[in-house]
Order: sequence, then C-alpha cells, then structure tokens
Amino acid sequence: MSLEGKAAVVTGGARGLGRAIALRLAKDGVAVAVWDLNGAGAQETAQMIIDQGGKAIGLAADSSLATEIAAAANESRAALGPISILVNNAALSPFAKFEDLDEETWDRLMAINLKGPFLCVKEIVPDMLAQGWGRIINIASSSAQAGTPNQAHYAATKGGVLGFTKALAMEFATRGITVNAVPPGFVNTEGLQESPVDVEAYAPMTPMRRAGRPENIAAAVAFLASEDADYITGHTLSVNGGRYLN
Ligand SMILES: NC(=O)c1ccc[n+]([C@@H]2O[C@H](COP(=O)([O-])OP(=O)(O)OC[C@H]3O[C@@H](n4cnc5c(N)ncnc54)[C@H](O)[C@@H]3O)[C@@H](O)[C@H]2O)c1
Repeated sequence: MSLEGKAAVVTGGARGLGRAIALRLAKDGVAVAVWDLNGAGAQETAQMIIDQGGKAIGLAADSSLATEIAAAANESRAALGPISILVNNAALSPFAKFEDLDEETWDRLMAINLKGPFLCVKEIVPDMLAQGWGRIINIASSSAQAGTPNQAHYAATKGGVLGFTKALAMEFATRGITVNAVPPGFVNTEGLQESPVDVEAYAPMTPMRRAGRPENIAAAVAFLASEDADYITGHTLSVNGGRYLN
C-alpha cells in the first residue's frame, strides 16, 4: 500500500491514535505533518518518523482556530509539498452529566471536535483539488453510533462528523477526493486512561473482551488513504472489536 511521495496532515498527532496514525502513514511512504495543541509532543512524533528514515514536521496548532491552521498548513507545504491526505483526529473526549453540561462547554467541544475538521478541510481541500487526488479521513466515535451516557456533547460532535463525512463525500466524488470516517470503539490511549472509563473493567464487556490498540485504528486509516480504497467514499469503517455492528 505504498503512498510514496504523498504528504499528509494528522491533527492531534502528539500522542494516542494520532501518533499511531502518523507513524503508520510514514511507514507507508507518506511525508507527515503532525499538528497538535501540544507542539512538543507533535515534534516528538515527527522525530520518531525521522529516526525511522521518514519525512515529517511537527507543529503546534490549535485545530479550532483558522489562523493557526493556515499558518501550520503553509509551513507544512513549504516543508513537505502540497497536502493530499488529511486525517482529522484532534478532539477532546470529556464526560459530563447532562444536568451539569453548560452552554460554554457545549460550544467549546463543538469548536474543537466539529468545527476543527471543517476548518482543516477548508484550508487543505484546495491542495487536493489542484492535484485531482485527495483523501480525507475523519476520526469519529462509536459513541455517536451506539450512544454513551454522560457524553451527550461529545456524541453530538461525533455524529456531526459522520454527517459531514457523507455530505463531503458526495460533493467531491467526481473530483478525485474520497472522504471517509473511522469511528474507534474502545482503544487504549492516554486519553482513555485519563477519562473516568475503567479500562480494566470495561474491556471484558466488549465482544472481543479486550481494548483496541492504536495500531488497529492506524491500519484502517492507512487502508482508506491507499490506492486500494480508490472506490470507497462516504463510508464509515468502524474499528471497535464488535462494540457496535453497522
Ligand atoms: N481512544 C478511544 O477509545 C477513542 C474512542 C472513540 C473515538 N476516539 C477518537 O479518536 C481520536 C483520538 O483519541 P485519543 O484517544 O488518541 O485521544 P488523546 O486525548 O490521547 O489525544 C488527543 C490529541 O489531540 C490533541 N488536541 C486536543 N485538542 C486539540 C486542538 N484544539 N487542536 C489540536 N490538537 C488538539 C491533544 O493535545 C492530544 O494530543 C479523537 O478524535 C477521539 O475522539 C478515541
């Protein structure tokens, strides 16, 4: 599945799934711009790629802010060339009882988890249109498919990501750009460990009786980015060990 010569942006690539996705794309020959609020972590991921013989740049960028995205995109293009793969992965995954949810929290999550992917596509899709080739892969969540208590705001953002994916897929279908979503189920990352979810207790309740590994998500993203996935668009590729069957 070589993607030699292509350049990608992976948002939220300082750790967790974003880091695994960046490393996997680099293994498949992609030059990777790793963006994250945590610039030091993004640079660390980029250095891991460079140490393995790949090409990468790590940048600090808040993916809810158009100005920071534009600056990161310009720096990425200067270092790696035009971008043809975008993985919208950056998100917060907080928990709150509905009665405790306030408008400010709702708006902040919408800005990062849903408006962020919109802003990144806005910035990068002209590169793809100019090349007549592009791959947009949006990381959603099984929470939007199956629901999760105490995550009404989060599930709403990720449900939005699923709808956004399908609408964009139709709009760009004749222009060489595929748009797909990967909703992870329950994957052991720093983010999950910091959440109230008890990984040890929850894992045995999933059909596969284990949490997923970041590499499981990265493999699905790499497939959707590849030429092999040329005729797949608007698809939701669930990677969840059976948590939700679509
Ligand atoms: N881990 C799971 O079980 C799971 C399940 C379903 C969906 N997901 C989704 O997968 C993605 C990655 O999850 P993870 O578990 O690796 O999370 P994580 O918390 O470990 O990592 C998220 C990264 O995103 C970055 N980030 C947060 N806000 C940002 C912003 N405004 N701009 C730029 N970067 C920002 C963080 O700094 C962090 O490096 C998210 O979209 C999450 O919703 C994860």
